[in-house]
Amino acid sequence: MVPVCIEDWQSIAKRHLPPEVYDFIDGGAGSEQSLQENICALERVKLLSRVLRGIEKVDPFTTRLARILGNQCPTPPILVAPSAHHKLVHPEGELATIKAANQNGVPFILSTMSDFPVETVCEKSDAPVMFQLYLYKDRQINRDLIQRAQDSGCSALVLTVDVPLMGARLRDRRNEFSVNRYRNESYLQGQIKHQCIPVSGNSGVAAFVADQLEPAISWADVEWVKYHTNMPLILKGILHPLDAEIALQHEVDALYLSNHGGRQLDHHVSAISMLPHIRQRLGNVIPIIVDGGIRSGADILKALALGADAVGVGRPVLWGLAAEGAQGVARVLEQLSEDLHLCMHLCGCASLAEVNNEIIWIE
Ligand SMILES: Cc1cc2nc3c(=O)[nH]c(=O)nc-3n(C[C@H](O)[C@H](O)[C@H](O)COP(=O)(O)O)c2cc1C
Repeated sequence: MVPVCIEDWQSIAKRHLPPEVYDFIDGGAGSEQSLQENICALERVKLLSRVLRGIEKVDPFTTRLARILGNQCPTPPILVAPSAHHKLVHPEGELATIKAANQNGVPFILSTMSDFPVETVCEKSDAPVMFQLYLYKDRQINRDLIQRAQDSGCSALVLTVDVPLMGARLRDRRNEFSVNRYRNESYLQGQIKHQCIPVSGNSGVAAFVADQLEPAISWADVEWVKYHTNMPLILKGILHPLDAEIALQHEVDALYLSNHGGRQLDHHVSAISMLPHIRQRLGNVIPIIVDGGIRSGADILKALALGADAVGVGRPVLWGLAAEGAQGVARVLEQLSEDLHLCMHLCGCASLAEVNNEIIWIE
């Protein structure tokens, strides 16, 4: 079978991966209502095309993220969302993913939980990388991570704020999932030896989060992080319009709306549902990235029309990586870009400047 859409890549990945690893990637929290809601919320939004606009060429590129990307080059409005442990699905791990992202001009966010050091990933990358930070309880680890990201030339820091504790990932609990069982060697950015030892009925990842990450993360920590870096700061995991307003008061550089791919709180609202409310409340003063359930060009176009400047793509990248390494990721990103191009043309939008809520219909 030739994979021609994201669902095809998902089926191939499912065949390639050990079931526990597939579950770790695919799973959500609790009864996985949030996970399903991410897809359903996008399905409820319909596109409403304009016709007879004489469009010959479509320009699907943006410079709205210039500040956080550290350059003015137009990029597709697609980012590789941060995700942990790429070596779980392919031996070349993040080095394969960054190669594919570079090939497609797609910005890449490296997870704190990557399997290669930030220095190595940045060295291999043609374009500046963004670094995602989980706040550790130990301030010295945070200081070191920020410094290393900065010294490596990262263009922005993405502080993930929705993991004070690990969500109840029932598939991982049932599987007593441990990352180390599936990787040849264990590297951890924070240099704490991986305490991913699963206790009965729990996963090793959850044990690690409980042991190492700051459960009482607060706005004071946002100020602390800002004080310790000169990189632009993005907050990932904002969903409430009131939090979005507070973030603006703290002068962060971009907002990343996300429910963590449905992996944290179950019965959670989707980021796509909150996007128009947050955009309306904040106006156009700050770039907004959104993720959760983005699987096609139509999904990307809906997000942009509802007020996003770019979308993050999580699981599809890992499915491409599992299926065919760097080439699989490159094809996934290429297919999403091509599909966006097609949907823009069919909707009568020649450029992203013409994409707005006039092409949206919600029953
Ligand atoms: C396997 C996996 C690992 C993830 N690891 C991280 C991480 O280390 N840091 C982070 O901020 N988000 C992490 N996320 C969440 C993603 O950044 C993103 O919010 C989510 O995957 C988007 O939903 P999608 O997978 O439906 O595209 C992870 C998601 C998955 C599926």
